Amino acid sequence: MDQNEAPILDALEDYHRLDRYGFTPPGHRQGRGVDKRTLDVLGADPFRNDVLASAGLDDRSSSNGYLQQAQDLMADAVGAEQTFFSTCGSSLSVKAAILAVTRGTGEILIGRDAHKSVTAGLILSGLQPRWIRPQWDNELHIAHPPSPETVEQMWQRHPDAAACLIVSPTPYGTCADIEAIAEICHRRGKPLIVDEAWGAHLPFHKDLPTWAMNAGADICVVSVHKLGLGFEQGSVYHLQGSLVDPVRLKQCADLLATTSTNVLMYAGLDGWRRHMVQSGEEELDAALKLVEAVRARINDLPGLHVLHDELIREEASHDFDPLHVLIDVKQLGISGYQAADWLRAERRIDVGLNDHRRIEATFSQSDSQETADRLLEALSALVQAAPELPEPSQVLLPDSSDLEMETVRLPRDAFFGPVEVVPAREAEGRIAAEQITPYPPGIPAVLPGERINGRVIEYLLSGVEAGMVLPDPADPELNTIRVTRE
Ligand SMILES: Cc1ncc(COP(=O)(O)O)c(C=O)c1O
Repeated sequence: MDQNEAPILDALEDYHRLDRYGFTPPGHRQGRGVDKRTLDVLGADPFRNDVLASAGLDDRSSSNGYLQQAQDLMADAVGAEQTFFSTCGSSLSVKAAILAVTRGTGEILIGRDAHKSVTAGLILSGLQPRWIRPQWDNELHIAHPPSPETVEQMWQRHPDAAACLIVSPTPYGTCADIEAIAEICHRRGKPLIVDEAWGAHLPFHKDLPTWAMNAGADICVVSVHKLGLGFEQGSVYHLQGSLVDPVRLKQCADLLATTSTNVLMYAGLDGWRRHMVQSGEEELDAALKLVEAVRARINDLPGLHVLHDELIREEASHDFDPLHVLIDVKQLGISGYQAADWLRAERRIDVGLNDHRRIEATFSQSDSQETADRLLEALSALVQAAPELPEPSQVLLPDSSDLEMETVRLPRDAFFGPVEVVPAREAEGRIAAEQITPYPPGIPAVLPGERINGRVIEYLLSGVEAGMVLPDPADPELNTIRVTRE
C-alpha cells in the first residue's frame, strides 16, 4: 500500500476545495455560527474541520471508503490483519474486545492490574473475572504484568474461560512476555487480548519493547493519544488470526460507540500513521537518546531517583519502555502527590502518574531538549523547595495479599443490584457495589463484587488524606462506600 497517502486528510482538503455545505449536523456549520469568544480561544480550524463523517466528508453511503482505506493503511503500517479506529479512547476498544470474545456469560482470565475501563467491561458483559495475579513488588508497591507461568496456572484452573486479557505496557512502562503468554493461550485455542493503551509507538522502533501483534496477540488495543500523536480519545484496535470474529468485534464496538464520530480524530490517526511510517523511527531514536540523558541528569539531582533496574529485575518485568520516567521522590521527604502539586503550582508543569512516593513524566517524540530542560529545571527547583514542604501524610500501604480481595458476586450483579450506602469503615466485610480507583494510574483498588477488607479501606482513607484522587466512587472523599444490600 502507498503509505504516503492519507485518505482522510485528503478527503478533508477536498471537502473544503469543493466548497461543500451540509444542512446536517454539526450545527456550527464549520464554525460559521460560533461565538467569537469561543473562536478566540479555540481558533477557527477545529470547527472548520469538524464535518459529518458520512453525508459530509464521504457521501451518504460512504462509497469512497475513506475510513476503510485509512484503517487498511494503519493495519499495513503496523503489520496487523485488520485495524479499526475508535473515537472513544481505548476505554471503548477494550470493552468491545471483551464483549466480542464472549457469549454474554462465562469467564475471562484478566490481570488484576487492569485499568478501570477494562473492569467496566466486566460490569457490562456480565462475565466472571478469573483474576490473574500481577507480579507484585511489595517493596515498591507496584504491580508488573503477570508472568507466563501464572497465566498457564490460571488456564489450568479455568480451562473454559473465553479469553485472556493483560495490560502491557503498564502505566509504569513495564511489559509482559507477550510471546510466551500468547503461545500459552493459543495452545488452548483461546485468544489473547492485550491492552496496549501505552504502546502506540512500539511498532515503530526496534529498540522499544515488542509490540503485541508481533508477539502474537489476537487483539491489541492502543491509545494513539497517549504516546502517539493523535488527539485525545483517538484509539485503534488491531485484530489478527482466526480466534476472534471480526464482524462480532466491529458490532460490539458499534454497540458502545457514538454515531457521530469525530472526523478530526480520524484525521489525526490517519496523519499520525503516515508520519510514523515516514519518520517515526528517526524521531523515536532522538526521543530515546533524549530520555536516556534526562534519566541520568535526574539521577544526579540529590534526593531523586529514576526507577529502572528495579523494574526489570527477575520477578518484575520482561521488558521496559524507557519513555516512562518514573521518579522516586521519597528521599526528599515528600510524597508524589506533593511533588506533582508543587510542580504544577510553581513551575506550571504537569506530570502523569503520582502516588505516595513517585511521579512519572512520560516522554514522546514531540519532546525536545527545551522541554527536557524545563522538566530538569523544575525538578531541581523542587529539590531546593522540598525541605520547606510540610511532612507528607502517611499512606497506610497494604500488602499485595490485602489487595487481592475475593470476588464473591459477579461485578455486573453487584453493580446493578440493590445497594446501600455505608460509612467507609463499616464497609469492611461487605460486598462492593462500585469501583474505587486511585487515579492516575487508574487501576481499581476495589471492584463491584469484591468483599472489602479493612486494610484496603485504611489504605484508601489514608491515601485521600495524603492527596490521592478517587474519581469514580459516588463519594470521592470516601466518607461512604456503596455496597450491595444484604
Ligand atoms: C492501561 C490502560 N488501558 C486503557 C486506558 C483507557 O484509555 P483511553 O484514555 O484511551 O480511553 C488507559 C488510560 O489511562 C490505561 O492506562
